[in-house]
Amino acid sequence: YSTQSSSLRMTIIGAPGSGKGTQSTKLKRDYGVVPISTGQILREAAEEDTPFGKEIAKKLKTGDLISNDIMAEIIQKVLNNQNNWLLDGYPRNPEQAEHLDKVLKEKDIPLTVALYLDVPENILQERIQDRWVHPKSGRVYNSVFSPPKVKGIDDVTGEPLVKRSDDNDEKVFQNRIKTFKESTLPLLKYYEKQGILYTISSPTSDEGYIKIKKVLDQVVHKE
Ligand code: AP5
Repeated sequence: YSTQSSSLRMTIIGAPGSGKGTQSTKLKRDYGVVPISTGQILREAAEEDTPFGKEIAKKLKTGDLISNDIMAEIIQKVLNNQNNWLLDGYPRNPEQAEHLDKVLKEKDIPLTVALYLDVPENILQERIQDRWVHPKSGRVYNSVFSPPKVKGIDDVTGEPLVKRSDDNDEKVFQNRIKTFKESTLPLLKYYEKQGILYTISSPTSDEGYIKIKKVLDQVVHKE
């Protein structure tokens, strides 16, 4: 089959640290899907020295969700006429899922895959503690699992790696987990009903990615 599938319009659902960003990078490489990370879009917005930027930065530091209205505007802007994309971090609650369905219905391009990365909570916390990022590019490292070539330095630019503003505080991490359970987990039922939910239960990336590929190859073959 062609790696450029016209039917892969996906969302990745998973708790903080479940590996959404990490798997997105591999899916881009192997299936040509364009990753759209709402977290990364918001972190970039938070860098702007404007009232809007400051408001977003404040919210991100707490681990709360940004309002559905702001997210609706952002998602409408980024979902252009690309045929195969991968949403990392959107939708995050049933209201956002309904909004997305509405937008896609207007374009006549329904979502074809909702991938849920199911990772145990103790593993999530370890991964977040060991995560280092290059903020400008969104490149993600892990000091244990996928360290940079030189400690504390981005492989590509040679610039320093940093901790994310929402990764350093135990309380904030717990709030992100709570928000995920309360607001985002209900999405599983939503997509199960639509018949497009695929759950990947695996704590390690290599195993997990093999399972993801099996799922996507099936979807691609159905075209
Ligand atoms: P977002 O950026 O989406 O953060 P998150 O959901 O908390 O997820 P993370 O980025 O923390 O983790 P990930 O699953 O991508 O894991 P990663 O691949 O990095 O959102 C941030 C904030 O933005 C939210 O809190 C919210 O405020 C706001 N927001 C975003 N979208 C929104 C929306 N739609 N509505 C409202 N607000 C929104 O992996 C984690 C670490 O583990 C890395 O170090 C990685 O190297 C390592 N790792 C990955 N896989 C493995 C593996 N298999 N084995 C070992 N280590 C691994």
